[in-house]
Amino acid sequence: MHPEVEPLISRTDIYYTVRRIAQKITDKHQGHKIVLLSVLKGAFVFLADLAREINLPDIEIDFLSVSSYGDGHQSSGKVKIIQDTTIDFKGKHVIIVEDIIDTGNTLSELLKIFEKRNPASLEICALLDKWEARKVEIKIDYVGRKVPLEFLVGYGLDYAQKYRNLPFIGILDPSIYSKE
Ligand code: IMP
Ligand code: MG
Repeated sequence: MHPEVEPLISRTDIYYTVRRIAQKITDKHQGHKIVLLSVLKGAFVFLADLAREINLPDIEIDFLSVSSYGDGHQSSGKVKIIQDTTIDFKGKHVIIVEDIIDTGNTLSELLKIFEKRNPASLEICALLDKWEARKVEIKIDYVGRKVPLEFLVGYGLDYAQKYRNLPFIGILDPSIYSKE
């Protein structure tokens, strides 16, 4: 259906990766109040699958919206909160759920903001780690897969708002964005 997208991680591989992360969170957070805080829009598919695989009784879910990419494929380096979370973090174990960590700019900014809100703990969970692109060092507590320095789409990830609904993760042909 999309010849410009070369499959990289299959639906089945994603499923087992998500299950593995969910198991770790379940083991680590027994007896805790958890907040899964997801950065829109890219992480919405991952969060939906992850939340359903975590086996804990006290989970809250919220979203916040930041902008760092515009509609293109290059990170602008600036992070702006467009819509903030409304949950009170006090005494709760907050896990920021991200689709992909690229330069690390988005998360380092978010960590600074959320640490001030006194959560019991603050962790990062990322499905994909584009580690070769990192500009700011970030400790990722739960990571799904390391991925190459390519522009990826599918399973929530977009290019100019397209491809989020693909059930797998693939590499977008650079000819699509090289005219930018
Ligand atoms: P960072 O601030 O550079 O780490 O960028 C993080 C955000 O950029 C991610 O949460 C994604 O929304 C977006 N992003 C980074 N790499 C890709 C990619 O390969 N495909 C789609 N979105 C990406
Ligand atoms: Mg994102």
